[in-house]
Amino acid sequence: MTIHSHPTTPFAGQKPGTSGLRKKVRVFAQPNYAENFIQSVFDVVERAPGATLVIGGDGRFHNRVVIVQAIRMAAANGYGRVLVGQGGILSTPAASHVIRKYGASGGLILSASHNPGGPDEDFGIKYNIANGGPAPEAVTDAIFARTQTIDRWLAVPGEVDLDRLGTNLVGDMTVAVIDPVADYAELMESLFDFAAIRRAVAGGFTMAFDAMSAVTGPYAVEILERRLGFAAGTVRNGTPLEDFGGHHPDPNLVHARELYDAMMAPDAPDFGAASDGDGDRNLIIGRHRFITPSDSLAMLAANAHLAPGYAGGLKGIARSMPTSAAADRVAKALGIPCFETPTGWKFFGNLLDAGKVTICGEESAGTGSDHVREKDGLWAVLLWLNILAVRGVSVDALAREHWAKFGRNYYARHDYEAVDSAAANALIAELTQALPSLPGRVVGPLTVAAADSFSYTDPVDGSVSAGQGLRVLFACGSRIVFRLSGTGTEGATLRVYLEAYSATDIDRETPAMLADLIAAAEAIAGIARHTGRTRPDVVT
Ligand code: G1P
Ligand code: ZN
Repeated sequence: MTIHSHPTTPFAGQKPGTSGLRKKVRVFAQPNYAENFIQSVFDVVERAPGATLVIGGDGRFHNRVVIVQAIRMAAANGYGRVLVGQGGILSTPAASHVIRKYGASGGLILSASHNPGGPDEDFGIKYNIANGGPAPEAVTDAIFARTQTIDRWLAVPGEVDLDRLGTNLVGDMTVAVIDPVADYAELMESLFDFAAIRRAVAGGFTMAFDAMSAVTGPYAVEILERRLGFAAGTVRNGTPLEDFGGHHPDPNLVHARELYDAMMAPDAPDFGAASDGDGDRNLIIGRHRFITPSDSLAMLAANAHLAPGYAGGLKGIARSMPTSAAADRVAKALGIPCFETPTGWKFFGNLLDAGKVTICGEESAGTGSDHVREKDGLWAVLLWLNILAVRGVSVDALAREHWAKFGRNYYARHDYEAVDSAAANALIAELTQALPSLPGRVVGPLTVAAADSFSYTDPVDGSVSAGQGLRVLFACGSRIVFRLSGTGTEGATLRVYLEAYSATDIDRETPAMLADLIAAAEAIAGIARHTGRTRPDVVT
């Protein structure tokens, strides 16, 4: 085997964010850029000689180029085997499952998730460890440190036909091109009562699934249409496109507007759902009823025992800090612990591995369980379908019943995108300084009860992650959280999370319930003064 050593010099800024390294395609396409990052991964991550590496991506523009290069590099760096999805495709949850199922030492997931794709858009690389989950901060910090000193990357010559299933050799390394859907579909069948869902479908239950021209198309067609019997055409935008048809593959009320409109129409199907670029996010909309991701987590947790995979009950629930406290109320009723972690799925890994929690979720449309170590869009859809099929109720009825029992956490997130980074940093710095003086301050009808910067101590390994968002808690139980996105590729994105709880008032409109909080956010943080913006770009 001929190993070529290519001299290189470090690039600034190869620091993985909330979810891996994300940059514009034109940044990634510079000579040595992707290679430096991948070599830095190979230089620092733990593995035995001859280990297995999983590689897959969401099919976006530049995916194939980087995959083939990563395979050549893996061979030169002593891996014994690469498992790669056919066509370079593996959804993020499917990649997590394949890593776990085949005992791989880790995986490279090529995706920028819900960010747009195409020559002028975004690309990303994320490393997942042997448990199938995103590398923890200790690993990403080591990778980043390595990117700053790197002076060569290694590769062997060789080509791979990513479209042909089967096994090849690149250098001395085996490359197995695998069916990206089969293992994942089998896992879903093992968790959910497919027979009950099939019966509901035969009885007239209908749904619409928007794959947003992204990676979940083939998974959804196989599972929903072929295995569960939903009508052909249930899966919309089911062919993965390199530019996602020019859309943001982000399943929220802005970018999945067509689905939302279809679900609010008089002839809406019973159930609507969507997933994002790499298949880990989900959007749930019942006929005439949108379910916030925070509520979805709580409702799934309250009913999960109806699915065979969770019939034994839940060990605990975890949610990211900005996610609403709706799940906490369910945990309390079930007598199980609820953990509050920083934003980003990587913080759930230890809790899942230690058997402390079964179900996790984030307000950003991420829900999942201990079946893999990533959030999982189709998993959430299937758990909803399983619950609705067993209970024979509509989404709206289930939600109303839930709120009647637990009260309702009215919730919204306001995003200010592509804000000048200096301005966004100044806002956060100023607010951080003001935190100690906020308690007691009266803003309209609200009184600040407490304010802090969220710091998390991992209960499993004791590691501390500080500076994870600014929290302002009001005496009435309402809350505002401010934080800057760690996944954006242009300037800064300010996220403002608003939450108001009512035990009895469960049938109000969310904007009205949050109006005082929105005014308070402006008064407390000076969003317009710092950013020049008077309204958010995206409300979810
Ligand atoms: C966003 C979400 C976060 C999610 C991440 C990856 O990160 O807020 O919950 O885990 O994308 O999908 P952010 O841009 O806020 O750092
Ligand atoms: Zn995603």
